[in-house]
Amino acid sequence: MPGTCVIGLQWGDEAKGKLVDLLTADYKIVVRYQGGANAGHTVVGGGQTYKLHLIPSGILNPGVTNVVGPGVVLHPPKLLEEVAGLRQRGVEVGGNLLLSDRSHLVFPWHVLEDRLWNDQPIGGEMLGTTLRGIGPCYRDKVGRTYAIRLGDLYHDSCRERIERIVEFKTRLFAAAGSRTGSQGGTETEGSEFQLDAARIHEEFQGYAEQLRPFVADTTNFLLDAVESGQPILLEGAQGALLDIDHGTFPFVTSSNSSGVGVSAGSGIPPKWIRKVIGVAKAYSTRVGGGPFPTEQDNEVGQRIRELGREYGTTTGRPRRCGWFDAVAVRYTARLSGVDGLALMMMDVLSQLPEVKVCVAYELRGQRIDRFPGHVDDLRQVRPVYETFPGWQQDVSGLRRLEQFPSGARRYLDRVSELVGCPIEIVSVGPDREQTIFARRDP
Ligand code: IMP
Repeated sequence: MPGTCVIGLQWGDEAKGKLVDLLTADYKIVVRYQGGANAGHTVVGGGQTYKLHLIPSGILNPGVTNVVGPGVVLHPPKLLEEVAGLRQRGVEVGGNLLLSDRSHLVFPWHVLEDRLWNDQPIGGEMLGTTLRGIGPCYRDKVGRTYAIRLGDLYHDSCRERIERIVEFKTRLFAAAGSRTGSQGGTETEGSEFQLDAARIHEEFQGYAEQLRPFVADTTNFLLDAVESGQPILLEGAQGALLDIDHGTFPFVTSSNSSGVGVSAGSGIPPKWIRKVIGVAKAYSTRVGGGPFPTEQDNEVGQRIRELGREYGTTTGRPRRCGWFDAVAVRYTARLSGVDGLALMMMDVLSQLPEVKVCVAYELRGQRIDRFPGHVDDLRQVRPVYETFPGWQQDVSGLRRLEQFPSGARRYLDRVSELVGCPIEIVSVGPDREQTIFARRDP
C-alpha cells in the first residue's frame, strides 16, 4: 500500500492530526504537502498535547521520517520555533525531518501583504485569513519573478534576488500608501514602511544554517520510496471546502487542500495513491468568512463550541459551529476519492437534546443535492434537515461500536449512507485510546 492520504472534508480543523498520529504506526514516512503555518494540528499522546503547524504529525513517533513537500510554504522562524519546542519536550527532531529544497519561503513582506491587502472585504464579507502570509507567498510562487525557495538560500544569487524583491515590494507598498511596519522592516512613526534587504538577507542566512541538516531533495526521496514499495502516509492540511480550485472560492486558502492536491504538492505520482481516508467532524465548523449553510449562529452553535472547545489552534479565534452538512461532505468525499470516513468528535454530539443532519439544500425554491459552485448560490441555499433525537449518553469511554446507544448508531449509519462512504473510524475524544476502528469490530 504505497500511498494513503488523510484529507479533511470540511473547512479544516477536523482533527486530522490525531488520525495521522494514530495511523503512523503502520507507516515509516509521513508527508505534509500543502499549506503552511496556517495549519494547526493538535496531537494528544502520553498525557501531553502537541500543537504542530508545519512539521508532520508523524514526528511524535520514533522511526518515522517526516517529509515537508514542495507544495508547502515554509516560514523558517515558525519552523525553527516548532523544532525547538518539540526538542524541549524530549521529542527527537533530526534526521527524521526532511524539508523539500523546492518549498517556497514566507518572507516578512508576505506577512505584511496578508495584513494589508488580503483582509479586504469581498462582496461585503471578510475572508479572515490566518495572517501567516500564506496567500501572498503562493501568489509570488505562481507569479515566479518574486519568489524564493528554500534551496535558493544556499546559492550566492540569493542576496541579489532579495535586494531586487525588496526594491519592488517597497515601490509596491509605497504606491499603495502603506504605512504599517512589520518584522524584517523598520518603522518610524509617520514614516513609510521600509523593508531592509541586508537585514532580511542576514536573517535568512541565519535560518539557512539552522535548517541545513533538514534540507533535502524530497521529490527523489519519495519517488525512491514509492518505487521500492514503502508505505507512505500523506497528511492534508485545512479541508477540501477550502480548496483553491474546488472550495467555496474566494473564501478558501491558497492551495489544493482536497484530495486533488496530494500528487502536485508531494511529487508522488497519482497512481501510487491507493487509499484516501476522509476526515469529518460529526458536526461542522468554519473559521473566518464565507458561506456556511448549516451554521448555527445561536445557542446550539454556542453549545457545540463549548463542548467541542472550538477555538482555532493557530489563531485562537472562536470557530463558527453548525450541523453536519452531508451535501458538502458528499461533494468533497467524491472530489477526494474517499474510500472510508473517519468521523471525529462524536462525543460532543452526545450531550445535545437533538441532532440534525443537512440532507439537501433548497435553492430558489428547488430542492438540490449538489454542492453549488458559486459563492452567491451557497449564500442563498436553505438546508433541508433530518432531525435525530439526542442519545444523551456519554460515549467518550466506549471502545466498540456495539456499545453505542442505538440513536448514535442510527446517526452514524445515516451519515455514511448520505455521504456514500463506509465509516472506518469513529473518534470519541482527543486521546489516542478514544478511537474506534469500526471495520475492525467483530
Ligand atoms: P489563509 O490560509 O491564512 O490564507 O486563510 C484563508 C481561509 O482559510 C481563512 O478563512 C482561514 O480561516 C482558513 N484556514 C486556513 N487554514 C486553516 C486551518 O488550518 N483550519 C481552518 N481554517 C483555516
